[in-house]
Amino acid sequence: MLRERPESGEASAQRRHDELARLVRDARYRYYVLSDPPVPDVEFDAWYRELVALEERFPALRTPGSPTRQVGAPLDGTFPPFEHVEPMLSLDNAFSEEEIREWVDRVRRGLPDGESVRLACELKFDGTAVNCVYRDGALDVSATRGTGAVGETITQQLLAIESVPYRLEDDRPPELVEVRGEVYYPLAAFEQMNSERIERGEVAFMNPRNAASGALRQKDPAKVAERPLALFVHGLGAVAGREFGTHHAFLEWARSAGLPVSDQTVFVDDVDSAWAVIERFTGERHSFGFEVDGVVLKVDDLGQRRVLGATARAPRWAIAYKMPPVEQQTVLRAIEVNVGRTGKATPFAILEPVAVAGVTITKATLHNETQIHLKDVRVGDTVVVRRAGDVIPEVVGAVVPARPPGAASWTMPAACPFCGEPLARPEGEANHFCENVDCPNRVLESLAHLASRGALDIEGLGERTVALLHAAGLLGDLADVFRLPGHRDELAGLEGWGDKRVDNLLAGIAAARTRPLERLLVALNIRHVGSTVAKDLARHLRTLDRLGSAGLEQLAAIDGIGPTIAAGVRAWFDTPRNRELVDDLVALGLRTDTDLAEPAAAEELPLHTSTIVITGTLASFTRDELKHRLERLGAKVAGTVSARTTVVVAGEQPGSKLDKARQLGVPVLDEAAVLLVLEGAALPPRDPPG
Ligand code: IVH
Repeated sequence: MLRERPESGEASAQRRHDELARLVRDARYRYYVLSDPPVPDVEFDAWYRELVALEERFPALRTPGSPTRQVGAPLDGTFPPFEHVEPMLSLDNAFSEEEIREWVDRVRRGLPDGESVRLACELKFDGTAVNCVYRDGALDVSATRGTGAVGETITQQLLAIESVPYRLEDDRPPELVEVRGEVYYPLAAFEQMNSERIERGEVAFMNPRNAASGALRQKDPAKVAERPLALFVHGLGAVAGREFGTHHAFLEWARSAGLPVSDQTVFVDDVDSAWAVIERFTGERHSFGFEVDGVVLKVDDLGQRRVLGATARAPRWAIAYKMPPVEQQTVLRAIEVNVGRTGKATPFAILEPVAVAGVTITKATLHNETQIHLKDVRVGDTVVVRRAGDVIPEVVGAVVPARPPGAASWTMPAACPFCGEPLARPEGEANHFCENVDCPNRVLESLAHLASRGALDIEGLGERTVALLHAAGLLGDLADVFRLPGHRDELAGLEGWGDKRVDNLLAGIAAARTRPLERLLVALNIRHVGSTVAKDLARHLRTLDRLGSAGLEQLAAIDGIGPTIAAGVRAWFDTPRNRELVDDLVALGLRTDTDLAEPAAAEELPLHTSTIVITGTLASFTRDELKHRLERLGAKVAGTVSARTTVVVAGEQPGSKLDKARQLGVPVLDEAAVLLVLEGAALPPRDPPG
């Protein structure tokens, strides 16, 4: 029998290398230029490492065209090219304590015997890299990383970011300084934006990093300004006219010059401490308010850095420890549908179990049919799932090249899987709804919601108890919860229940009767009414009775309530079943008024003639919180400083708004002063113009 000659090791390595090189190049292009990576980072890292390993075994594969010799991606010509004064390198990665220890050993071996090494341990911000060239203290050019040697000029886009100063606060600034940093999209804002897009039936961003790079690469800087992008400065490129001995000294200077620098960076003198910081940052990763995908260790001493040098791709004086990824791939086995308390039908994925950042995921939300079609996710696909902190895991996309033949596009079932009634998609909506108010799953979910903490908070009535009492025929609708005291014997007769458990539940129900109107409103499943809206409604309308009879216009005129919320409220009260429920709840003795203070008339509010601009970071609240609190006092909070601005509130690292305020003679308040204003102090008077 004739046998084919086995391929030589080198030939098969060459073929695999070609394949991996193609995959890596394509992925980089899609990641950097299109902001649409084809695979999650883990997959990319695995390809890249295999490529590096092949080149180590077969050095001939390491041609100048290999992706291991390049950084970033080719440019697509959207923005003018800019040649970085000093190239922007990438970082080598480590995935374990062992690899970190090996790196520290390598660093020590690269330096004279016995020399001590101080390390900076920094968060690895998951955003998009930028280079800012300041000449004589003013921002001259800002550019993306691009190929590493040449980036795209996005100076105006960068200046549209609130925390980026145009002028450095330094009386004797260096002639030239290249400041490197990461532009990121704060998590809460990202989630809010994405959920709005999903509700509107628009394409959702895969993750905050893509959202940041997409937002930053908009041609119109005004569009960039609409996004809450932020910057962290983390490195130094070329510098002339100033010497820095250490990274620490550079960061201190950057901070004092008004550049945004993270206050999380820790300096350590040995590898044990460095590893302890990595573990701490990994444990805290979901609490920073922005996405973090690792920890960067850097040699602090810039002289030592010069001795250690760099490869064509990455410096030897730094390493990125990669945290377990929040995105992973797995197979989508099936799509099922849940029907929630408002009747909204949410498709969710049944997944081949997969560990994502330490937790095994078997289910993930797919949001709605529109998202499934926009993302073209099909049963049988390999999909990317993302689990960020407390947020429900979601399917963010499909790996289309891995699609099995015959995988069909998914459509929402015509009937509700719980009650068989039709599932309908209202005109202009991205979501389907089960309209049957008696749908057993809707009832179960609304009962559990009524008892939950943000609503009436009924102790002893968790999800499982709700299901048990529903199955026992004791809970048919929301009002039945308050009829349970009349069923004491049946409750006591339930398997495993004794008098004590019944007493506890009934005490919980008695307490729930006395909750104020705003909590009851949250419990009622009115579309768009969460705790903030409920408070606004209660504050203005005072009683359930007045709320039930308020007209659309009256509702929409309330501060914080627009036409959509008003329509949701009206539609709820106009449904006869809900009217009956309200009557029942009143008859069962629930409280229907509030203790919230009545809103004062606009002209009685202390700040009703003031226009306030906020800049910088505050310690006691986010800018948004401060905005709401000032608005509650009648102030108008504006985005730009003008001659009509009453005061500017400046936190840490204020932006160019502070300069503008000074130019125009607008009084500036620090955080302590604004706290006094919130407590009733008067605003300072404006200097007379001129
Ligand atoms: S230092 C010479 N520090 O991660 C390279 N990079 O995966 C200096 N990144 O290209 C980079 N946080 O865009 C550094 N604290 C940090 C970082 C950081 C995020 C980005 C940076 C870099 C990429 C490498």
